[in-house]
Amino acid sequence: MKYIVANWKMNLGIRESVALARGTLLALQGKDVVPEVVLCPSATALAEVHKTLARTRMHLGAQNVGPARAGAFTGEVGVAQLEDLGCTYAIIGHSERRMQLGEPDAAVALKLAAVWESSTIIPILCVGESKETREQGQADAFVKGELLSALQALKPKRKKLLIAYEPVWAIGTGTPATVADALSMGAMIRSTVVSLGFKEEDVAVLYGGSTTAENAYSFLREPEIDGLLVGGASLKMQDMHGILNAACDVISAQEV
Ligand code: PGA
Repeated sequence: MKYIVANWKMNLGIRESVALARGTLLALQGKDVVPEVVLCPSATALAEVHKTLARTRMHLGAQNVGPARAGAFTGEVGVAQLEDLGCTYAIIGHSERRMQLGEPDAAVALKLAAVWESSTIIPILCVGESKETREQGQADAFVKGELLSALQALKPKRKKLLIAYEPVWAIGTGTPATVADALSMGAMIRSTVVSLGFKEEDVAVLYGGSTTAENAYSFLREPEIDGLLVGGASLKMQDMHGILNAACDVISAQEV
């Protein structure tokens, strides 16, 4: 299984979001085997995009979630509300939230715990080091710290857990990590998560950061890379089609 998660970030109005969702759907038309595609529009467009995705093979995801199912958290959207909107995935701990909005590890852990209790929403936990951390040779230790902080209090159970390795220096910069770096960090992530009691078959490790139609195949063809979290390129229909085609090609090739 390969995952392609489209993170549209704080872009697009409702109508534009629906149009992009429709356009993205066209890429899967006529394909027998397709990746698990998750579109993550802004919270304002979730309801309308949900209607567009109903009875299709694509899924709806939220870019963020409040720290509980429901309650006194002014301005937040809780897990129960995301379920109500038809979300089946939720991104948690994106580095833009951690770094630009000051979201601490403790908040990420609370959000993950809240989503973990949902019977319908699968979490996509983002982790990744800064440039300075990598230059200091601390990338593995830093990412491991993020994982432990988010996962340690979580009770393993038979539920999918997606982890997106997104080095901060690769996001929106045009400079992706090398496939080798993504693979070695991916292996560390997988072994750390499994050491906490999660079953290997329930864990998927994605890569994110400056992925494009041109480089998608080189990541996706690696069996250990379970998919991509795509930002900028997911806003451009043609680029997204290229990425989805690459995923379909890889899946078909692996099936023969
Ligand atoms: P990018 O963003 O693909 O534009 O680098 C990825 C992300 O932030 O999830």
